[in-house]
Amino acid sequence: MRNLINILDLSVEELDELIAVADDILEDPDKYREVCKSKILATLFYEPSTRTRLSFESAMLSLGGQVLGFSEASSSSAAKGESVADTIAIVSGYADIIAMRHPKEGAPLVAARHARVPIINAGDGGHYHPTQTLADLLTIHHEKGRFDHLTIGLCGDLKFGRTVHSLIEAMSRYEGVKFVLISPEELKLPSFVKQEYIKDKKIPYVQSTSLDEVIGTLDILYMTRVQKERFFNEEDYVRLKDSYILTTEKMKLAREDMIVMHPLPRVNEISTAVDDDPRACYFRQTYYGKLMRMALIMKLLDLKV
Ligand code: NCD
Repeated sequence: MRNLINILDLSVEELDELIAVADDILEDPDKYREVCKSKILATLFYEPSTRTRLSFESAMLSLGGQVLGFSEASSSSAAKGESVADTIAIVSGYADIIAMRHPKEGAPLVAARHARVPIINAGDGGHYHPTQTLADLLTIHHEKGRFDHLTIGLCGDLKFGRTVHSLIEAMSRYEGVKFVLISPEELKLPSFVKQEYIKDKKIPYVQSTSLDEVIGTLDILYMTRVQKERFFNEEDYVRLKDSYILTTEKMKLAREDMIVMHPLPRVNEISTAVDDDPRACYFRQTYYGKLMRMALIMKLLDLKV
């Protein structure tokens, strides 16, 4: 049985297949309307979410399947002290596939050991978020037309930003990729990502605290929110939250063909005036997320049209 815990659980060829399916869905969604008829997706969200949960549910409904689940730990038996292992063992009897978000790193991996159906990691603490990366990859495919020879700037909370970790892992497999890591000292990329996916693979990278200095070198600028919920104290969050704000002024320093991505939700880090810039892709990115989740559900359930 296949799970998606880490983006590297999928080979480059499998990612290409998912992209091809997502493109086909985009072209002819009607064809996919009944692929998951009589299948049930459970969304177990122990942590808040709008996009990811709704996009999973919308994906399953668009495939003709059904959905059940909970959107906060307090409304599940976790509030009574039930373990993830027990919850998963039970939900395995109620659903054909499970998407799970949890504040603890590694929880979806534990879940996969106790599940009788495929588990999808929909975000585990400050660790990974592979299905956001699927959305990011389809966005890059559509907007840039390639995955190789790209200079990718990642800006903001690189420490706790799980979408950043998964995206670096995924992009580290393509030739000619460079990373530009833009963050305050305190929010630098953790070594579990930097060592294994950048240094050990000898991928060129630049580290900077200034967005202005490097923005002109980028093909992609991936902005992120400072992850308030992972801070131990409010003071640090307040001091760091507005470290980078992308404005129309700053966009003038960027290349004409640079794209701006963001996993959303946005807080202050991109001024709303940037939304009208054709280089801003973050709203399109959310739709691509749904298409890739449809393709992923089909793959893990081994269903074809
Ligand atoms: C991201 C997440 O949950 O990590 N959101 C999302 O799934 N689109 C990013 C974030 O919360 O900042």
